[in-house]
Amino acid sequence: MSIHDQRGAPMSNGNAAATEGLEKAFALFQGYFNDPLAEIDTALAADPGFFMGHAFRAGLFLISSEKAAVPELAASVAQMERLAPRANERERGHLAAARSWLDGDFHGAIRHYGETIANCPRDAIALQFAHQVDFLLGQSRMLRDRIAQILPHWTRDEPTWGYLKGMHAFGLEEMGHYDEAWDAGSEALAINPRDAWAVHACAHVCEMTGRTDQGIAFLESRSDDWAPGNGFAFHNWWHLALYHFERGDIARVLELYDTAVHPEPTEVAMALVDAAALLWRLHLAGHDVGNRWQAVADAYEPMVEDGYYAFNDMHAVMAFAATGREVSMRRVLATMERRALDDDANAVITRRVGLPICRAMAAFGRGDFARTVELLEPVRLSAHQFGGSHAQRDILDWTLIEAALRSGQNGWARAFANERLARKPQSPLALGFLARATQGKAALAA
Ligand SMILES: [Fe+2]
Repeated sequence: MSIHDQRGAPMSNGNAAATEGLEKAFALFQGYFNDPLAEIDTALAADPGFFMGHAFRAGLFLISSEKAAVPELAASVAQMERLAPRANERERGHLAAARSWLDGDFHGAIRHYGETIANCPRDAIALQFAHQVDFLLGQSRMLRDRIAQILPHWTRDEPTWGYLKGMHAFGLEEMGHYDEAWDAGSEALAINPRDAWAVHACAHVCEMTGRTDQGIAFLESRSDDWAPGNGFAFHNWWHLALYHFERGDIARVLELYDTAVHPEPTEVAMALVDAAALLWRLHLAGHDVGNRWQAVADAYEPMVEDGYYAFNDMHAVMAFAATGREVSMRRVLATMERRALDDDANAVITRRVGLPICRAMAAFGRGDFARTVELLEPVRLSAHQFGGSHAQRDILDWTLIEAALRSGQNGWARAFANERLARKPQSPLALGFLARATQGKAALAA
C-alpha cells in the first residue's frame, strides 16, 4: 500500500502516529521553530521502521554543518540502508543524498536531493534540505532556481505556498533581484507572518541595498512573530545588529549581542559563526568588546581538528586571532593544510578558498595587513564556494578594506570603498572607509 505525506509525496511506510509526527516536525522546520528533532524522534519511537522519519532526521543533521552531528547522521543513514529494499524512488533519493554527505561528497548530496525534487516536485521536505545545502555550498543560482523548478506544481491556496515564496525570496535576493525578492518575501509574510526564513530574505534585501532604517523598522516591528520559540532567531537578531552597526550605534550592537545573538555559551556552529562574525566586525572597527571573545574562542577549542566545513574554520581562526590564541590558530591551519590534500568536497573547498582566507585572517591577527590584502584580494571572488550569504561573506570585503588602509595601500582602499558605496550610497561605514583612504590615513581612526 502506498501512502503519501500531506503534500502528496509518496512514502513506502509509516503508521498513523509516525506520519502525523513527521507532519508536526516538518511544520516546525518550515518556520525554523523548535524543536523538529524532538518531534521526529517521537515519531520514530512510534514506528522505528518509518523510512521518511529517518530521512528527515538525517536531513536535520546534514544541514547543521557540524562534525559533531556526523554520528547521528550516520545512525540515520544506517537505518535507511536497512530499510532500503522496500523504499520507493523518492526515499532512495533521500538516502543517496544523506549517504553522499556522510561520505564527504557534499555536491553529490545536492545532486541527489535535486534529482529527487525534479522527479517528485511535491517533495517539500527534500526541497527545504536542498535549499539549505545550496546555501552551505554557496550556490546562489540554485537558491533561486531550485524553487522555480517546482513552483508550477503548487498553487497559492496550499499551506506550503508561502514557504516556497520565502525560499524563492532568499534566492532572488542572493542573485541580486532585490525588488522581486522583497515582493516574494512580502507575499510569504502575508500568508504567514511567522515565517522566519521569509523575514530573513527581506532582512537581506535591506542589508544588501543599505536600507538600514527600513531594515530596523521591519525587524523590530515583527520580532514578536519571528523570535519567540524560533531556532533561527539568533540570526535575524544578527541582521538587526548589522543595521545598528551601520548607523554607528555600537551600544545597541553590543546589547543585541548579549541578549539575542550570543546570550549564552553555545556549541551550535551557525550561532558561533554569527557571534564571531559580529565580534570580528567590532574588532576591525576598533571597538572594545570586553571579554566577549573568550566564550566564543572557548567553544571553538574542541573543534580545532574538525576540518569539516571551511566556513566554520574561518570563524574559529578569527576567534583565535582576536584572542591571541596562537597555538589554537596554528592547529586549525595545520588541520586545514592536511585536509586540503584530500579529495572530498571540503578538501577541495579548503584548498581553493578556505586556506587562503584563513591565512589572511591569521595575518590580520598578527598585524601583517599587507599579507592580508595579498591573500584576500584574489580569493574573495571565489569565496562563495565555501558557503554563506553575501551578507556573511561581506566580512571578507570589510577585512580587506581595513587591511588595505592599515597597510597604507590607499589606492586599493579607495577602490574597495567605492565598490561598497556603489552598492550602498548612503552607507556611513563606506563613507568612513573612503574618507580614511582619501586622507591617506592608514591608522585606525580614533
Ligand atoms: Fe542572513
